[in-house]
Amino acid sequence: TREQHLQSILATVPDAMIIIDETGAITSFSAAAQRLFGYSETELVGRNVSCLMPQPDRDRHDEYIAHYLQTGERRIIGLGRVVVGQRRDGSTFPMQLSVGEAGEDGQRLFTGFIRDLTAKEQDELRLKELQ
Ligand code: HEM
Repeated sequence: TREQHLQSILATVPDAMIIIDETGAITSFSAAAQRLFGYSETELVGRNVSCLMPQPDRDRHDEYIAHYLQTGERRIIGLGRVVVGQRRDGSTFPMQLSVGEAGEDGQRLFTGFIRDLTAKEQDELRLKELQ
């Protein structure tokens, strides 16, 4: 089935992948996302994606989505952006976020791909120290 197909993708994609609905509620959370953020999928399904980011975005993310749904104005979808994520233990890290949109039976879903930039940032800092 489609659901089994989706589950096998989420178990194997190397990048963290998160699917949310149009209210921001998490519907799927990949194995790589579980390792990156420190939550299991069952803990997060149904919770708002805003729990994975620090302030001020945490309080504003519902508005970001609502603004997009009302205006169609894309600020991340199709563009990508470097933003800050927050792990379960409260620590924060830089991440490259790509968001895509998928519609299923009239329901709008958003797929987020996340790449942890921690190692890249550390390499850049080390390079600067050497210069
Ligand atoms: C919009 C932050 C994760 C879906 C935005 C915006 C920011 C943001 C700053 C644009 C605000 C603006 O300029 O108006 C973050 C942060 C995340 C995160 C810090 C860290 C976890 C996600 C994930 C998804 C997602 C995982 C989807 C699965 C969206 C959508 C929009 C949005 C649908 C509105 C459309 C758009 O602006 O193109 N987010 N986001 N976000 N985000 Fe997130």
